Amino acid sequence: MVEETEPTWQEYWDDETPPWQLKKPSPDLEKYFPDFLNNGEITDGRRVFIPLCGRNLDMKWIYDQGLTVVGVDAIEKPIREFFGEHGIPVNVQELESGYKVFTSPDKRLTLIVGDLFGLDENLVGGRFDYFYDRASFVALDSDTRPNYVGLLYRFLKPGAVGMLESVEYDTKWNTSHPYPLFAKDLEDLYGDQFSFEELSRGNDPSSSYPRIKVAYKVCRNKK
Ligand SMILES: C[S@@+](CC[C@H](N)C(=O)[O-])C[C@H]1O[C@@H](n2cnc3c(N)ncnc32)[C@H](O)[C@@H]1O
Repeated sequence: MVEETEPTWQEYWDDETPPWQLKKPSPDLEKYFPDFLNNGEITDGRRVFIPLCGRNLDMKWIYDQGLTVVGVDAIEKPIREFFGEHGIPVNVQELESGYKVFTSPDKRLTLIVGDLFGLDENLVGGRFDYFYDRASFVALDSDTRPNYVGLLYRFLKPGAVGMLESVEYDTKWNTSHPYPLFAKDLEDLYGDQFSFEELSRGNDPSSSYPRIKVAYKVCRNKK
């Protein structure tokens, strides 16, 4: 019997439309994110971190709000395509560290190609006021998740606010990403450093098996 192996991220992106790619911005983003911007305590800075960004359309929506966006993805193809797809001119800089930095002329959009976990604060231009996580945390296995939370904590300003979309399902249906993420996992992983508020919950129409999609507002604690 030939065992099927999970495609690599590069292989997923070599395909024109990877399964997670949205055709329009997330309704949860459009519904809830404006409140984060209007009611948050943060009034200046307005930098948004988008880890594992791919060429998510939500990034364009966030950029169009006038915010400064910094995304990172290990694969170059979606980042190049993102600028092309939206007709945004791009300046590309290859760093000695191996990271490749794609920047728009207005400097409000920076997408970095390379490993999220090798980034430092200088490379991303300092700490962030907001973050947006769709299909990112759930793309990481349980061994990697604590590093992700630690990195977010370091990169966000105290009081920073973000949105996280998780998925919940029985693992008898699926053993690869997106990996399920329940409220209990969030509490265990993020509990000391972040607080959560569930914003929405419902069946995930993009899934071929029974799966619930949950959106959370996540706040980085001030200490
Ligand atoms: C499931 S996709 C989600 C992309 C995007 N957030 C979206 O909603 O369309 C996960 C992305 O994480 C990227 N990725 C995985 N591990 C990474 C790492 N260690 N550093 C940077 N990017 C990574 C992959 O290349 C892939 O584009």
